[in-house]
Amino acid sequence: MKVSEAVQTRRTIRAFKDEPVPEEVIREVLELARHAPSNSNTQPWRIDIVSGAARQRLQDAIFAEIQAGVKPYPAFPPGGTGLKGRYKERQRECAFQYFAAVGIDKEDKKARMGLSMKNWEFFGAPHAAFLSYPATMHRANAIDMGIFLQTIMLLFVERGVASCPQGALATYPGPVKAMLPVPEENAILCGLSFGYADTEAQINSTAAKMEREPVDVFASITS
Ligand SMILES: Cc1cc2nc3c(=O)[nH]c(=O)nc-3n(C[C@H](O)[C@H](O)[C@H](O)COP(=O)(O)O)c2cc1C
Repeated sequence: MKVSEAVQTRRTIRAFKDEPVPEEVIREVLELARHAPSNSNTQPWRIDIVSGAARQRLQDAIFAEIQAGVKPYPAFPPGGTGLKGRYKERQRECAFQYFAAVGIDKEDKKARMGLSMKNWEFFGAPHAAFLSYPATMHRANAIDMGIFLQTIMLLFVERGVASCPQGALATYPGPVKAMLPVPEENAILCGLSFGYADTEAQINSTAAKMEREPVDVFASITS
């Protein structure tokens, strides 16, 4: 598979088969992803992956916090913070298209909340990864994390593995840090649920495919 094909094939998948991804495939992807570039080669990334019974225990622990009424407490401001104008508009369009794709009325707050809760079920994926980096690092180093994340997602695509990047998985870091060997000084930036796509699921239908702006909206080339 060419990189161009992997870039175009990747999309966020939110329903998965139970079948786990073999550990050697996960290790191969990490082995390749470590070649991602980073500022001054600092390689700030840390990834902690949870599968099987431990994955279920972590899901239960996160839900226990949510059900106890604990409000989200991410270390970094969530991705939607401070959105205005066209960005706010795109966020709204994305949400409405997503709800429509699964037959949820945009006014139906309860159904929307139910869908949102699936984030902490890892959308049924057999594996969830948590990406963290030192909390003291500047946000410029988040670029390194983003490059690392996309490298992993594309390498997964090449191997038929689907994934869902999730800012939501940074919002209840307590159980994650208690159960996984995330370095104490690190803060969780996002998660990545992954596995084999359930291609029959409505939530993965092409109706949920997000379009992009044309190049001239975001680029200029001056000579
Ligand atoms: C950093 C990041 C955080 C995201 N957080 C979430 C999330 O918490 N829950 C979710 O369902 N999707 C999440 N997404 C998926 C985006 O909604 C998705 O990438 C976007 O709508 C474009 O769709 P595509 O990935 O299918 O091309 C996130 C994506 C990124 C890159």
